[in-house]
Amino acid sequence: MRTGEKRIIAVIIALPLLAIGYQLLMFPQREADPGIPFYLAASPEIKQQAEHIYARNKCSDCHSLWMVRNMMESVPAPRLDGIGSLRDEQWFFEYFSAPDPQRILPSRLKQEYRMPSYAHLPVEERRTLAAYMAGLKVEDWYLEDVRKSEYEKLTGKPYRTDRPE
Ligand code: HEC
Repeated sequence: MRTGEKRIIAVIIALPLLAIGYQLLMFPQREADPGIPFYLAASPEIKQQAEHIYARNKCSDCHSLWMVRNMMESVPAPRLDGIGSLRDEQWFFEYFSAPDPQRILPSRLKQEYRMPSYAHLPVEERRTLAAYMAGLKVEDWYLEDVRKSEYEKLTGKPYRTDRPE
């Protein structure tokens, strides 16, 4: 083997080692990815039925859930991932059953973007939806981020943890 060839081989071997060394040097304390914080605490039956109701009523035109949302629409509605860690089943049921949901949760948006009333749905469907929403949980370590994002969507104002209640 000629010296020229040896050099080339040496470079081929050295380059990936240098790259790894560089990574270790520059990003030594990179933390393990903690994973997706959202999970569903509802039975498979509730999930299946609720997903039908959710799809039929086009909730994803305005809301994002499990990364799914209608990209053609741009309503700034709160995302629903983790919402079941902020409110309970009874609250959801009353909210969906209200003829005027804005009396429960005031809106800052124009009429066509606001949460519609689902009082016309059969009571069983409202119950199923409420049970499903209540099961949309978030791990504790991400709860504050969900609160922040919900607050900012609802009010349009930045969230401050030191804000007076
Ligand atoms: C036209 C857009 C639109 C559609 C369709 C829609 N929503 Fe909403 N939703 C909103 C908006 C906007 C809000 C925030 C309150 C407001 O501005 O009226 C909201 C609020 C909510 C909340 C309360 C969130 C919170 O912060 O506590 C829940 C739960 C919810 N929607 C679930 C649903 C479900 C389930 C469906 C389908 C059955 C649905 N939404 C359909 C726009 C929509």
